[in-house]
Amino acid sequence: MILVTGGAGFIGANFVIDWLMQSDEALINLDKLTYAGNRENLASLANDPRHIFVHGDIGDRELTNRLLEQYQPRAIINFAAESHVDRSIHGPEDFIQTNIVGTFHLLETVRAYWNGLADEARQGFRFLQVSTDEVYGSLASDEPAFSETHRYEPNSPYSASKAAGDHLVRAYHHTYGLPVLTTNCSNNYGPYHFPEKLIPLIIVNALAGKSLPVYGDGQQIRDWLYVKDHCSAIRRVLEAGRPGETYNIGGWNEKPNLDIVHTVCALLDELRPRADGKPYREQISYVTDRPGHDRRYAIDARKIERELGWKPAETFDTGIRKTVQWYLENQDWVRHVQSGAYRDWVEKNYGGRQP
Ligand code: NAD
Ligand code: TYD
Repeated sequence: MILVTGGAGFIGANFVIDWLMQSDEALINLDKLTYAGNRENLASLANDPRHIFVHGDIGDRELTNRLLEQYQPRAIINFAAESHVDRSIHGPEDFIQTNIVGTFHLLETVRAYWNGLADEARQGFRFLQVSTDEVYGSLASDEPAFSETHRYEPNSPYSASKAAGDHLVRAYHHTYGLPVLTTNCSNNYGPYHFPEKLIPLIIVNALAGKSLPVYGDGQQIRDWLYVKDHCSAIRRVLEAGRPGETYNIGGWNEKPNLDIVHTVCALLDELRPRADGKPYREQISYVTDRPGHDRRYAIDARKIERELGWKPAETFDTGIRKTVQWYLENQDWVRHVQSGAYRDWVEKNYGGRQP
């Protein structure tokens, strides 16, 4: 039995679905169901007794303590987080609460539980912290990609809160000996990605005939990885990673944002052409840049490949095609997540941006 937090969100849901496809080991899925958490992502598991969903907060010690005592998991994977940079700029507080304070409370409960385990279970236990490349800050165009020893230089409230959570995880290893693993992954894309993030936003807006907002000059670079490859890397780190180590995860796939938008537009031109026959890229609109916008992220993924033999299965071409197809086939999902709260967000984030 393992415990996954944040398993109703984008990456967590993909992880839970993949886990139960590949293993018979049951899992508890603890999720607060914020705007980003969606039970519909887990609809395919509705009748699967190996999936135990619990609605709750990682910061609720009484609850997490009860779950640990009742189910005695051998590992915890902490996906739960506030994850959107733009939201962290408009309102950082939730990020501090979940990504720092929540992680702290979770670590405290886990430490007590782990201390009480018998020797063998204590040794085999793992706490895996799912983190991001954004904690490393921004790279100049000629700098080498982030390795695990790059210093933490977070620039947004989101990345600063993730960095703080990671530091606590590290400290619980050095101080208390808790067997932790940390993964720092690059930008993910794929099914169930909430349409506030670049790739799903572009697909959804394009199909709705809306403008495609590109921040600043669109030349910021991100390193993209298909979400299922992130999930396979986490499974591999959980299985074979050395406690106390961190592993960078990425697919050597750096691309400027504008290239991403053009690629998505070209795929839609092919798979779902506009009624008027014009290309979707005509909908692109350059808008005011994000404050403090990091220019470039890039992951050096040699350690996980060398030590654990992990490699991504998808190229960007295969992954982005699958993704666009998934959104075309799952328009009901898109409609359902675009609730009133989603519309309020669009107004808040884009209403004030000058084209
Ligand atoms: P997401 O925002 O889609 O999902 C987060 C999930 O956590 C949601 O289901 C939400 O309800 C839940 N949650 C939030 N606060 C909670 C709390 N206090 N207690 C319990 N559950 C809570 O995020 P995501 O994109 O799936 O990211 C998952 C993790 O991976 C995060 O830790 C993020 O920092 C990290 N990460 C994301 C990316 C990416 O490109 N999306 C890349 C690298 C790392
Ligand atoms: P995002 O998906 O928010 O991920 P992150 O900021 O965590 O990397 O954004 C990816 C890139 O796309 C980032 O450089 C900001 C840019 N972007 C836009 O140009 N327009 C948009 O509407 C959004 C949401 C993002």
